[in-house]
Amino acid sequence: MQEVKVSAPGKIILFGEHAVVYNRPAIAVPVTQVQVEVTITPLEKSSPNTVIIQSPNIGLESELKDLLEHHPIKVALMGVCRKLNIAEIPPCSICIHSTIPVASGLGSGAAVSVALIRAVSAFCERPLSDAEVNELAYEVEKIHHLTPSGIDNSVITYEKPIFFIKGEPFSTLEVGKPFWVIIGDTRISSPTAITVSEVRQAWEAARLTYERIFDQIRDVVLQAKEAIETGEVEKLGGLMNRNHEFLRQINVSSPELERIIEAALKAGALGAKLSGSGRGGNMIALVHEHESKPIAEAMQKAGAMRTTLTRIG
Ligand code: PMV
Repeated sequence: MQEVKVSAPGKIILFGEHAVVYNRPAIAVPVTQVQVEVTITPLEKSSPNTVIIQSPNIGLESELKDLLEHHPIKVALMGVCRKLNIAEIPPCSICIHSTIPVASGLGSGAAVSVALIRAVSAFCERPLSDAEVNELAYEVEKIHHLTPSGIDNSVITYEKPIFFIKGEPFSTLEVGKPFWVIIGDTRISSPTAITVSEVRQAWEAARLTYERIFDQIRDVVLQAKEAIETGEVEKLGGLMNRNHEFLRQINVSSPELERIIEAALKAGALGAKLSGSGRGGNMIALVHEHESKPIAEAMQKAGAMRTTLTRIG
């Protein structure tokens, strides 16, 4: 057995979050500026079933056998064992390092699962295919999010911009002309499962209204897909603003997100919206690269604790 190192990127949803849970399309892209890195080191002399897990970011240091059955890390590792048809993972130490903030819409949970599943299957000298990694990571997402659409694990597994509809094979998006987005982090952690279940309750209470909003989001996503593919970047700003207005209507924005979005637009962003499940986490602003510095500064003044400029395409 040899040491294995695997990394996985974060992600942002450009268009269509929440509506994607209700079978409307969405668009997501990988963000390589933030990463999860998993290192697996063999423990040759240990007893046969010693697997040590260390994840300093979440203060975890434990043996695999001591983790609860439904712990996402355990579910991911047991999934790999099942897939490879092995009783246990050879003795090793698994170290998980992440620069992706937790519960902030950047896909930290899915990135840990993808990196972990890839690393363990490679360590066992039987690397799984992308499709198998994606399938197992989706099972873990169910623990994090209860009713996940599957968009996070898909974009992170394939590391490409994707056009995604729940339950259907996704397509990768060809970006006609690269564009730039600043990600602004409120540093308010907001668990996806809670926001998604509150949206569900509201949908159950007013189905017609919510279905109409989700249909309008679908129209925005379809126009955005075309604009991205044909390189009509200037159209994307207005579409982001419209998408955000619908997210406001389903009550997933927050005063902190609104302040940063407003500051970005005032400073010259072409469009801005929350990204991910909302109520905190991250927002995104579409910018011309040469104007990105003053816009990022305005976002920081309005409360963004961290800004990250990322190129798409
Ligand atoms: O994990 P987040 O915060 O990026 O949110 C996921 C996006 C949702 O559409 C809200 C949920 C889902 O499963 O697609």
